[in-house]
Amino acid sequence: MSARETISKNAAFTKAGTIHSISAQAQQILQQLTLEEKASLCSGKDFWLLKSLERLQLPSIAVADGPHGLRKQGAKGDHLGAGTSVPATCFPTASALACSWDPTLLYNLGEALAEKSADENVSVLLGPGINIKRHSSCGRNFEYFSEDPLLTGELAAAMINGVQSKNVGTSLKHFAVNNQEFNRMVTNAVVDERTLREIYLKGFEIAVKKAQPWTIMSAYNRVNGTFCSEHKELLTDILRDEWGFEGLVVTDWGAMNDRVKGIAAGLDLEMPGSTGETDQQIVKAVNHGELNEAQLDKVARRVIKLMLKAKTVIKAENIDEAAHHQLARKAAAESAVLLKNNEQILPLQTSAHFAVIGEFAKTPRYQGAGSSMVNPVKLDCAYDALSEITNNKSLPYAAGYRVKGDKGNNTLDQSLIDEAVVLAKTVDIAVVFAGLPDSFEAEGFDRDHLDMPEQHNRLIRAICKANPNTVVILSNGAAVQMPWIDQPKAVLETWLAGQAGGLAVADLILGKSNPGGKLAETFPLAMADMASDRWYPGSPRQVEYREGLYVGYRYFDTVGKPVLFPFGHGLSYTRFDYSDLKTGNSLAPDQDLTLTLTITNKGQVAGYEIAQVYLHDIDSTHHKPVHELAGFSKVWLEPGESREVEIMVDRRSFAYYDTGRKDWVVEAGDFEVQVAASSQDIRLSAVVHVQSTDRPSMANKQINQIFQSMANNQKLNVTDQDFEAMLGHKAPKPDAVRPFHANSTLSEISSTFVGKKLYQSIMKKTADDTADIDETTQKLIRKILEGLPLRGLVMMSNGKMNYRFLHILIAILNKQFINAVKLIINRNK
Ligand code: BGC
Repeated sequence: MSARETISKNAAFTKAGTIHSISAQAQQILQQLTLEEKASLCSGKDFWLLKSLERLQLPSIAVADGPHGLRKQGAKGDHLGAGTSVPATCFPTASALACSWDPTLLYNLGEALAEKSADENVSVLLGPGINIKRHSSCGRNFEYFSEDPLLTGELAAAMINGVQSKNVGTSLKHFAVNNQEFNRMVTNAVVDERTLREIYLKGFEIAVKKAQPWTIMSAYNRVNGTFCSEHKELLTDILRDEWGFEGLVVTDWGAMNDRVKGIAAGLDLEMPGSTGETDQQIVKAVNHGELNEAQLDKVARRVIKLMLKAKTVIKAENIDEAAHHQLARKAAAESAVLLKNNEQILPLQTSAHFAVIGEFAKTPRYQGAGSSMVNPVKLDCAYDALSEITNNKSLPYAAGYRVKGDKGNNTLDQSLIDEAVVLAKTVDIAVVFAGLPDSFEAEGFDRDHLDMPEQHNRLIRAICKANPNTVVILSNGAAVQMPWIDQPKAVLETWLAGQAGGLAVADLILGKSNPGGKLAETFPLAMADMASDRWYPGSPRQVEYREGLYVGYRYFDTVGKPVLFPFGHGLSYTRFDYSDLKTGNSLAPDQDLTLTLTITNKGQVAGYEIAQVYLHDIDSTHHKPVHELAGFSKVWLEPGESREVEIMVDRRSFAYYDTGRKDWVVEAGDFEVQVAASSQDIRLSAVVHVQSTDRPSMANKQINQIFQSMANNQKLNVTDQDFEAMLGHKAPKPDAVRPFHANSTLSEISSTFVGKKLYQSIMKKTADDTADIDETTQKLIRKILEGLPLRGLVMMSNGKMNYRFLHILIAILNKQFINAVKLIINRNK
């Protein structure tokens, strides 16, 4: 068995018998369809509905966003978080949940999400999003799990299995290499094959093999020159032929570039559809022999299968909102990470004399903006929860900053800080709530820096000066810098903790629960410290992944560069000892490794410990990060309790992707198995000799040299020639902006007279239409529009603009007036 096959295939989504009968039924239905009907099935009816097949009793099915809660909209849909949606339990976002390292929690959350979806007649929940955090500033990092693909894949698989256990589908997104928001609809991610496989595809591979999501959403961007929605290598060769994906591939909303190419490449469903125009393109292509009807049949069959599966939904009798709220509270508590706790200042005694400072305590930042925005059923705040637990209705409080209208450094208000300082001096302990306001991180744009607002930083410094017993509670969706880190005694990272985050954080502060989360992403000291920073987010139309495998801890730990907090770090109100690691000395070919160790709770309170296993390949002839996560286990231990923990490391974790062999290869040799409390806190280790019959190809000396010298001097220099060696071919040149085409962006065409007028009128109309929504959503809509390719106008115009008009516009922009006139006259073109 090759290492490729060792990721277990426990596809739990439905019984084999059901699949068969659904396949047979789908085939029967397909045979009754006309060419036009088949083509029409392959694009959406509107924003959230697929088309129905009334005459064959197949009703239209609904899909909806999430995934940290259901976002089901009414008739007026949008994919930007602008319009309202039905109230639904808002759970912590993915960046928080990942810090729980808890597949069972994710599974349970999946079940709750499915119950709500089923109740609202939603057949497919559009998530989870699992793109790798290549750079801490990606605007959507709050929606993604981790910088590590193994942790990402395992958690995603658990969540998918949870949702699908109730026969509601999921849409694993965004496939693939969508690691930034800047120009996400047109950028070309240029990435070498080994990095693609080991970092950017691995999480998808694990989730597909372990959970068979009903659908996968293709990303907006291009990968190595080809749009994901028409990328045969990704959608067919890898996803279906290699990984055995059985479901349907849907475009991200508006990601369809060329419908016919898409079908040929393995894409099934275009969302939200282009008022039937692309369906006609498909019919034409089949009639002209440009598209094989058998290919269309495959696609239509998959859509029918999805419609049939949607009928198998398991509905709860009624939704227990209270239970979902409690689950949200548990999830928030288990996701929080205690970053620092000097002198064990936390937890506070219920009777402690403390003040609450920071408006987030009363107006929580609990989720991020964009398509994942949920309308919470209720919203708890930490201030009320703290008051209730301490039985003190008038806990001392100062706002310290304003949440509404916080635009960062333009809104400094010293008087609010002064007031808070006066209060902090009157109490024994100051608890400061701070973090990132909405306007700092959202879908649609990346952060320019990793700073918190200056007002928050100044507030923390001032309070720490006024009161040596200061505790900071952070709410943010992704890593931030903490220039004041030496000053407070404790820092608790609570992320975007969902609607019950207030209760959870109060429990944690007062020791009703014990923080056990560990970071699923590195907190760098500075943005420029990340290996990817030099190439992020690239030029307007191209981003080059020159840092290769060296993302997050893989880089920091390899070069020994200090970080603010390492991957896997998290403290507890108790301490844990690790002992008795048993690995065996040698691993036979084709075997997985099962190791055991003992963990002991040495403190006074019960708590969780998350033990991590990293592999350091001692004998590798191909460059590798100094170590990589290969397994983990979370255990609950009572005070004084010891437990033997077993962790399985699958054979694939010993492998690298060999581009010469086009396969995963385990090189025989010694590996150091490290058991760690964080990527930089290795507690136990043992050397295992790994036997292998795999035959690695010869390593490329030039590539080895680049990363060896990076490891030696902390400098990563990847020249054009080096990058070519990594890619195995010349690096493509970023596209020229002119002549304009269907993928030119609105901001690109605004350099012409006509383009500028169009750009301005679209921006004005959007500003008018969105005048009464929040400023962050307005900003993200503006940013998305700036990077919107012209073809996106067809999708957005709701039938007012068609492809013919698009081509006329492009001809005019390129000053090809004769062409434009011809197109105007010739209506059939
Ligand atoms: C987002 C997806 C989302 C879709 C539908 C897109 O803009 O990238 O994550 O599921 O809209 O709202």
